[in-house]
Amino acid sequence: MRYAISYVSSVSHTLSNDQIQEVLDYSRNWNIEHNITGILLYSEGNFFQVLEGDKDLLQSLFSRISMDERHRNLITLFRKEVSETKFNTYKSDFISLDSRFQGKNIALYFSQIEKLNPEIQSSVRYILNKFTEGIKLS
Ligand SMILES: Cc1cc2nc3c(=O)[nH]c(=O)nc-3n(C[C@H](O)[C@H](O)[C@H](O)COP(=O)(O)O)c2cc1C
Repeated sequence: MRYAISYVSSVSHTLSNDQIQEVLDYSRNWNIEHNITGILLYSEGNFFQVLEGDKDLLQSLFSRISMDERHRNLITLFRKEVSETKFNTYKSDFISLDSRFQGKNIALYFSQIEKLNPEIQSSVRYILNKFTEGIKLS
Protein backbone atom coordinates (compact mmCIF):
# COMPACT_ATOMS: atom_id res chain seq x y z
CA MET A 1 0.00 0.00 0.00
CA ARG A 2 1.21 3.44 -1.00
CA TYR A 3 1.17 6.02 1.78
CA ALA A 4 1.69 9.81 2.01
CA ILE A 5 2.85 11.96 4.91
CA SER A 6 3.33 15.71 5.02
CA TYR A 7 4.48 18.00 7.82
CA VAL A 8 6.01 21.35 8.64
CA SER A 9 8.69 21.90 11.30
CA SER A 10 11.21 24.46 12.55
CA VAL A 11 14.94 24.00 12.24
CA SER A 12 16.94 23.69 15.47
CA HIS A 13 18.77 26.90 16.34
CA THR A 14 22.18 25.31 16.23
CA LEU A 15 22.05 24.20 12.58
CA SER A 16 24.31 25.89 10.01
CA ASN A 17 23.37 26.19 6.32
CA ASP A 18 25.89 23.45 5.55
CA GLN A 19 24.25 21.12 8.06
CA ILE A 20 20.84 21.86 6.52
CA GLN A 21 22.29 21.03 3.11
CA GLU A 22 23.54 17.73 4.58
CA VAL A 23 19.97 16.85 5.64
CA LEU A 24 18.71 17.61 2.12
CA ASP A 25 21.45 15.58 0.43
CA TYR A 26 21.19 12.57 2.76
CA SER A 27 17.41 12.50 2.44
CA ARG A 28 17.46 12.73 -1.34
CA ASN A 29 19.91 9.84 -1.68
CA TRP A 30 18.11 7.58 0.79
CA ASN A 31 14.67 8.31 -0.63
CA ILE A 32 15.67 7.74 -4.24
CA GLU A 33 17.22 4.39 -3.25
CA HIS A 34 13.99 3.38 -1.51
CA ASN A 35 11.49 4.61 -4.13
CA ILE A 36 10.15 7.34 -1.87
CA THR A 37 8.94 10.37 -3.78
CA GLY A 38 8.15 13.92 -2.72
CA ILE A 39 9.80 17.19 -1.81
CA LEU A 40 11.64 18.79 1.06
CA LEU A 41 11.72 22.58 1.26
CA TYR A 42 13.74 24.68 3.64
CA SER A 43 12.84 28.32 3.98
CA GLU A 44 13.83 30.84 6.63
CA GLY A 45 13.97 28.43 9.54
CA ASN A 46 11.18 26.09 8.47
CA PHE A 47 10.99 22.73 6.76
CA PHE A 48 8.08 21.52 4.64
CA GLN A 49 8.15 17.92 3.51
CA VAL A 50 5.88 15.63 1.51
CA LEU A 51 6.75 11.94 1.39
CA GLU A 52 5.05 9.26 -0.72
CA GLY A 53 6.06 5.61 -0.58
CA ASP A 54 5.49 2.10 0.76
CA LYS A 55 3.42 2.37 3.95
CA ASP A 56 5.64 0.35 6.31
CA LEU A 57 8.81 1.94 5.00
CA LEU A 58 7.34 5.43 5.32
CA GLN A 59 6.01 4.87 8.85
CA SER A 60 9.42 3.80 10.11
CA LEU A 61 11.16 6.63 8.23
CA PHE A 62 8.72 9.13 9.69
CA SER A 63 9.36 7.93 13.24
CA ARG A 64 13.10 8.49 12.65
CA ILE A 65 12.41 11.95 11.20
CA SER A 66 10.09 12.84 14.12
CA MET A 67 12.82 12.03 16.64
CA ASP A 68 15.53 13.90 14.75
CA GLU A 69 16.89 16.70 16.95
CA ARG A 70 17.86 18.84 13.98
CA HIS A 71 14.27 20.12 13.90
CA ARG A 72 11.41 20.68 16.34
CA ASN A 73 7.75 21.82 16.56
CA LEU A 74 6.77 19.24 13.96
CA ILE A 75 3.14 19.56 12.88
CA THR A 76 1.71 16.74 10.76
CA LEU A 77 -0.46 18.07 7.91
CA PHE A 78 -1.65 14.70 6.62
CA ARG A 79 -0.89 10.99 6.93
CA LYS A 80 -2.94 8.78 4.64
CA GLU A 81 -3.13 5.90 2.21
CA VAL A 82 -3.11 6.92 -1.45
CA SER A 83 -3.96 4.95 -4.56
CA GLU A 84 -1.37 3.80 -7.07
CA THR A 85 -1.07 6.24 -9.97
CA LYS A 86 1.31 6.88 -12.86
CA PHE A 87 2.77 9.76 -10.85
CA ASN A 88 4.34 7.32 -8.45
CA THR A 89 7.37 6.95 -10.69
CA TYR A 90 8.38 10.48 -9.76
CA LYS A 91 11.68 10.61 -7.91
CA SER A 92 12.33 12.75 -4.87
CA ASP A 93 13.37 16.31 -5.36
CA PHE A 94 14.55 18.52 -2.56
CA ILE A 95 14.39 22.22 -2.74
CA SER A 96 16.46 24.52 -0.63
CA LEU A 97 15.03 27.97 -0.13
CA ASP A 98 17.82 29.82 1.63
CA SER A 99 20.05 32.71 0.61
CA ARG A 100 21.19 30.66 -2.40
CA PHE A 101 17.61 30.37 -3.63
CA GLN A 102 16.77 31.72 -7.10
CA GLY A 103 13.28 33.22 -7.27
CA LYS A 104 12.84 32.04 -10.84
CA ASN A 105 12.85 28.42 -9.64
CA ILE A 106 9.46 28.69 -7.95
CA ALA A 107 7.56 27.92 -11.18
CA LEU A 108 9.67 24.79 -11.62
CA TYR A 109 8.80 23.59 -8.12
CA PHE A 110 5.09 24.06 -8.75
CA SER A 111 5.36 22.05 -11.95
CA GLN A 112 7.16 19.28 -10.02
CA ILE A 113 4.29 19.17 -7.57
CA GLU A 114 2.01 18.27 -10.48
CA LYS A 115 3.86 14.96 -10.60
CA LEU A 116 2.74 14.06 -7.10
CA ASN A 117 -0.30 11.89 -6.51
CA PRO A 118 -3.38 13.92 -7.58
CA GLU A 119 -5.10 13.16 -4.27
CA ILE A 120 -2.56 15.22 -2.34
CA GLN A 121 -1.60 17.66 -5.04
CA SER A 122 -4.06 20.46 -4.28
CA SER A 123 -3.37 20.65 -0.55
CA VAL A 124 0.36 20.57 -1.22
CA ARG A 125 0.03 23.36 -3.76
CA TYR A 126 -1.84 25.43 -1.17
CA ILE A 127 0.88 24.97 1.44
CA LEU A 128 3.67 25.60 -1.06
CA ASN A 129 1.96 28.87 -1.95
CA LYS A 130 1.98 29.89 1.69
CA PHE A 131 5.53 28.69 2.12
CA THR A 132 6.91 30.71 -0.79
CA GLU A 133 4.69 33.78 -0.40
CA GLY A 134 7.35 35.92 1.29
CA ILE A 135 9.97 34.94 -1.25
CA LYS A 136 7.76 35.76 -4.23
CA LEU A 137 7.19 39.26 -2.86
CA SER A 138 10.87 39.99 -2.34
C1 LIG B 1 13.71 17.98 8.23
C2 LIG B 1 14.29 16.61 8.06
C3 LIG B 1 13.85 15.79 7.02
C4 LIG B 1 14.37 14.53 6.83
N1 LIG B 1 13.93 13.77 5.79
C5 LIG B 1 14.47 12.55 5.58
C6 LIG B 1 14.04 11.77 4.49
O1 LIG B 1 13.16 12.15 3.72
N2 LIG B 1 14.66 10.57 4.29
C7 LIG B 1 15.66 10.10 5.12
O2 LIG B 1 16.17 9.01 4.90
N3 LIG B 1 16.06 10.84 6.17
C8 LIG B 1 15.50 12.04 6.42
N4 LIG B 1 15.93 12.79 7.48
C9 LIG B 1 16.98 12.22 8.35
C10 LIG B 1 16.37 11.29 9.40
O3 LIG B 1 15.81 12.07 10.44
C11 LIG B 1 17.46 10.36 10.01
O4 LIG B 1 18.57 11.11 10.39
C12 LIG B 1 17.87 9.33 8.99
O5 LIG B 1 16.73 8.58 8.60
C13 LIG B 1 18.93 8.38 9.55
O6 LIG B 1 18.42 7.75 10.69
P1 LIG B 1 19.36 6.94 11.68
O7 LIG B 1 20.46 7.88 12.09
O8 LIG B 1 18.46 6.56 12.83
O9 LIG B 1 19.86 5.78 10.91
C14 LIG B 1 15.39 14.05 7.71
C15 LIG B 1 15.82 14.87 8.77
C16 LIG B 1 15.28 16.13 8.94
C17 LIG B 1 15.76 16.99 10.08
